[in-house]
This record gives sequence, C-alpha cells and structure tokens, in this order.
Amino acid sequence: MSPIKHVAIIMDGNGRWGLKHKNSRNLGHRAGLNTVETVIDECIKEKIKYLTLYTFSTENWKRPKKEINFLFNLLENFLIKRVKDLIKNKISVKFIGELSKLPITLKTLIKTSEKKTLQNSIIQINVALNYGSKGELINALRSINKKKIKINEQNIDKNLFTKGIPDPEILIRTGNTQRLSNFLLWQSAYTEIFFEKKLWPDFSKKDFKKILTKFKYIKRNFGSI
Ligand code: IPE
Ligand code: IPE
Ligand code: MG
Repeated sequence: MSPIKHVAIIMDGNGRWGLKHKNSRNLGHRAGLNTVETVIDECIKEKIKYLTLYTFSTENWKRPKKEINFLFNLLENFLIKRVKDLIKNKISVKFIGELSKLPITLKTLIKTSEKKTLQNSIIQINVALNYGSKGELINALRSINKKKIKINEQNIDKNLFTKGIPDPEILIRTGNTQRLSNFLLWQSAYTEIFFEKKLWPDFSKKDFKKILTKFKYIKRNFGSI
C-alpha cells in the first residue's frame, strides 16, 4: 500500500499559459487536459487511491461567460470521449461541489459518468466543480442541524462532499501563487502543501514525481514531536 492515499491539486496557470503561447486563455485550458492525463497515469502507477482536481470554484463564476462556457464544454467533451477509457482502466469519477447550479447537459453527463464508473476501484478521481470550501462547510453544518446530531469532527467529515474520502496527504498548487482559493480548507488541516512555480500545462511527470519523493522524507508530526 502506498503511504499516499490522496493527492489534491489546484490546477492553476492555464490562462497565463494560453496567453503566453497564442494569446488565448482557452488554449491554456485545453493544454491543461494533457497534464491531467499525465498526473492520473502517475497516480495509478504509484497506487494512489484518490486524486482530487480543482476544476471550477464557486468564485470562478466571476469570469467572462465565454470562458466559463468553454470550460464546461471542455469537460463535457472529455466525459463524452473518455468515459469508455475510464471504465476500461477501472477509474471511477466523482464530482464534488454545488452541482445543482451547473448547466443541465453537464449535470446529465456527470450523473451518467459517475454511475457508469461507480464500481471501478483502481483510482477515484474527484472532480471539484463549482466547489468552494466555505460553502461546503456551511452545508455540512446545516445538515447536521437538520439531523439534530452533535457538531463534532466526525459528523462534519460525514456531511462534507468528501464524505468517506481520506484527507489528502499532499496538496499541490501550480501557477506560482501561494494561496488555497477556497479549496479543501477543512480537509487540509494537516496536509503537506507544495507550491509549484510552473503553470499547470507545463507541469510534468518529473515535477510530480519530485513532489512524491519530497513527501516521503517529510516528518509529519500532527502536533506531536
Ligand atoms: C486554472 O487556471 C483553471 C481554472 C480556474 C478553471 P486559470 O484559468 O486560473 O489560469 P490563470 O491563473 O489565469 O493563469
Ligand atoms: C483556483 O484558481 C480555482 C481552480 C484552479 C479551479 P483561481 O485562478 O480561480 O484562483 P485565484 O482567483 O487566483 O485565487
Ligand atoms: Mg488562476
């Protein structure tokens, strides 16, 4: 068993990459998909069971409509084209976030791809879509209140979108920015965080492997000595 069960990634820098290369932010989003494939392959090789990818935040609605539509289309096409491969490679996908607010076509695809891949066990990819950690926590507290159960760590865990998923050991943010942007704030209380200078489309297999190796040498104290 790998000592790393869960890697979470803030895939940042697509827009800047696209602007730099062909003056098109959307080109960067498309290029970012290749990095997604590379990282999934590496996680499978390393026997990492969960990979969470920050794909669209609750704050990303502030972007131009054209860019938002492009992102949703990109994801829709990926799901249409790749679901067969996901099944073949025993990869399951789960979407975490406020999914009700998404366009209907995307919602339908999400449901079918989750259903079709549910039994797969090699790796689970959590796609954080219209995800925001503060909103997630508010929802959790509301459901705890409704169920009339105690507010404690266990019950909060059980009422988050990430219910049943172990907290990430590693969180990576590419794009040369050092902030969490409302991602997994509760779940990353003791996560090792790696900030990468490279933009997401330039992030390579070698860069990812370097982080996994670095992690293996970290002494994790969890408050102890
Ligand atoms: C991250 O890349 C991808 C999404 C938010 C969907 P950005 O689009 O934020 O890229 P930069 O940070 O503007 O370069
Ligand atoms: C975080 O990146 C969201 C995703 C990667 C999906 P942003 O580019 O939206 O973050 P900020 O706005 O720079 O903090
Ligand atoms: Mg960004």
